[in-house]
Amino acid sequence: MTIISIKDVSKSFKGNVLFENINLDIRKGQIYGFVGPNGSGKSVLFKMICGFIFPDSGEISIDGLEIGKDKRFPENFGVIIDRPGYIASKTGFENLKELAMIRGNISDKEVVETMEMVGLDAQSSQKTKNYSLGMKQKLAICQAIMEKQEVLVLDEPFNALDVDSVKKVRDLLLRFKEEGRTILLTSHNQDDIKICDEVYRINRSKLELTLPLIGDSHS
Ligand SMILES: Nc1ncnc2c1ncn2[C@@H]1O[C@H](COP(=O)(O)OP(=O)(O)OP(=O)(O)O)[C@@H](O)[C@H]1O
Ligand SMILES: [Mg+2]
Repeated sequence: MTIISIKDVSKSFKGNVLFENINLDIRKGQIYGFVGPNGSGKSVLFKMICGFIFPDSGEISIDGLEIGKDKRFPENFGVIIDRPGYIASKTGFENLKELAMIRGNISDKEVVETMEMVGLDAQSSQKTKNYSLGMKQKLAICQAIMEKQEVLVLDEPFNALDVDSVKKVRDLLLRFKEEGRTILLTSHNQDDIKICDEVYRINRSKLELTLPLIGDSHS
């Protein structure tokens, strides 16, 4: 079942052609990897999929509804693109709770459980302004997954994570896949790419299907 459909999408910034008539169907319950050198357009692609920016031509549909036309932001997407801003004077738990209150569909207990899943201490009184880079990344992962979002759009989710945490998050993503959730991720690390069912390399403004084990030789 196709969840996200990218049809004839082109995108340039001031003559810098990033994508030219790309097509891709994202199916439910699969993990998709996107690789390519710095500046090749991975984050731009994810922003278009989330409706933060729009293609110059072509269309992106979520469950058959065109982003920007039929709907603005896809519901039920968990997103990490660029580092989210946190309230510096609050703890990690307090920050996540603020976000959870917007939709109001998860309990405090579920926030705590999510933090534990990625190895963050929910009871800690440490404010996020004193968080390390890896801890901030874990908080970003928490906000993207804590409401059991069906589609996860994760731009470099493993950045700044230590070896054990990378393994933990990889296992989590595989578990989410088993639950039928759909995952899109970017990474510069070949090992991360191994969890993907399909990997696409951005090359000459096109998406090229590549084998999962090839990874990103440019990094
Ligand atoms: N809003 C914007 N206005 C103008 N140019 C932009 C904008 N957003 C991105 N770009 C340009 O588009 C190109 C692709 O950027 P993008 O962030 O998608 O690269 P990337 O593949 O994610 O790179 P990295 O591996 O470094 O994260 C870059 O040249 C960038 O400068
Ligand atoms: Mg990027």
